[in-house]
Amino acid sequence: MTFRVLISDPKIGDLKLFEAAGRSNLAFDLREIGMPADFPDDVLAACDAFCMFNVKPMGADVIDRMTRCRLLVRAGVGFDNVDLAAAARNGIPVANVPDYGINEVADHALALIMTFTRGIRFYSTRMQAGLPQGWAWDNAFNRRTYRRRVGIVGLGRIGSAFARRCQGLGMEVIAYDPYLPSGAELSLNVTRVASLKDLLGACDIVSMHVPLTPETERMIDREAIAAMRPGTFLINTSRGPVIDLDAAYEGMKNGPIQCLGLDVFPVEPADPEHPLIKAWLAREAWIDDRLVLTPHAAFFSPDAVVDMRTNAIHLIADYLEGKPLRNWVNADLLSPDRRR
Ligand code: NAI
Repeated sequence: MTFRVLISDPKIGDLKLFEAAGRSNLAFDLREIGMPADFPDDVLAACDAFCMFNVKPMGADVIDRMTRCRLLVRAGVGFDNVDLAAAARNGIPVANVPDYGINEVADHALALIMTFTRGIRFYSTRMQAGLPQGWAWDNAFNRRTYRRRVGIVGLGRIGSAFARRCQGLGMEVIAYDPYLPSGAELSLNVTRVASLKDLLGACDIVSMHVPLTPETERMIDREAIAAMRPGTFLINTSRGPVIDLDAAYEGMKNGPIQCLGLDVFPVEPADPEHPLIKAWLAREAWIDDRLVLTPHAAFFSPDAVVDMRTNAIHLIADYLEGKPLRNWVNADLLSPDRRR
């Protein structure tokens, strides 16, 4: 039997890349349509599985039209764009693909930190502006990382990979994650704290690695920023809405945030009219060397893209063939017997 898999991201739209996974029971339907809501009814109704590589909204208006679909896959880690309840109401399990870019994101968080602590951007732009006057080592933001305390919010797959990297540099690692089983921190040699406030007050560097949920949205707000140590370096490679950007702007302007590294934003692409971004784009002197932005690229490497695609295809093929579903993220809303 052949199953139809509808794939919604034009950027990943090379059929050969999917066929390379070698699952001959899948027929791929790649659609160059920007928003899932714009898919024609007949296309949605014909698929056995829907696989999305982007984070565009996947709401009830789309899901209700997938009358045959038996599996919805977000081929990536975050699934905050998918209406899990609407999928469950239709008897459709939702799965994610969390095992493709863990090391890339952990590297990226570390790279953002090192950009500041080693003054990489600072030195490079100064030298590029002209020599010999740009040949100067004095940079106010350089820090010794050895023995410095880094706080990890969300000690999951990426948070753990990041912790190991920091430990390799001789940093002391503290973590806040109320959902991990007791003892998880011992296997990573990490000190666990009971509240976000305890972490923020104890660390020089804070790195966010939580999923976006109602609880984590604006987790870093004015109150959280007020609890930070003066001179904190804050890094976010998780999801943009986790940090209140207005509060971060004030924290940069008036303290306590010294340096801010962001890969993700409340609105993507990043809003050039937001005061923080606007000041940075204008290269205002107060912020120029203290803010580093990347375009939701922490996951990206050619190897990660291959793994993302391959892991998604195997997950779909295995499930449609009758094997257990891996990475089922709406299982709490849908009992196995209510699945299509
Ligand atoms: P994961 O699910 O393995 O780990 C997340 C951890 O956060 C879990 O241990 C969970 O217990 C913890 N957590 C949940 N709610 C929390 C709360 N309120 N306070 C503290 N901890 C909490 O996820 P993984 O793979 O480590 O990914 C983390 C996030 O990174 C993803 O959800 C995704 O949003 C983001 N991401 C960003 C990428 C990028 O390109 N910038 C690429 C991949 C993931």
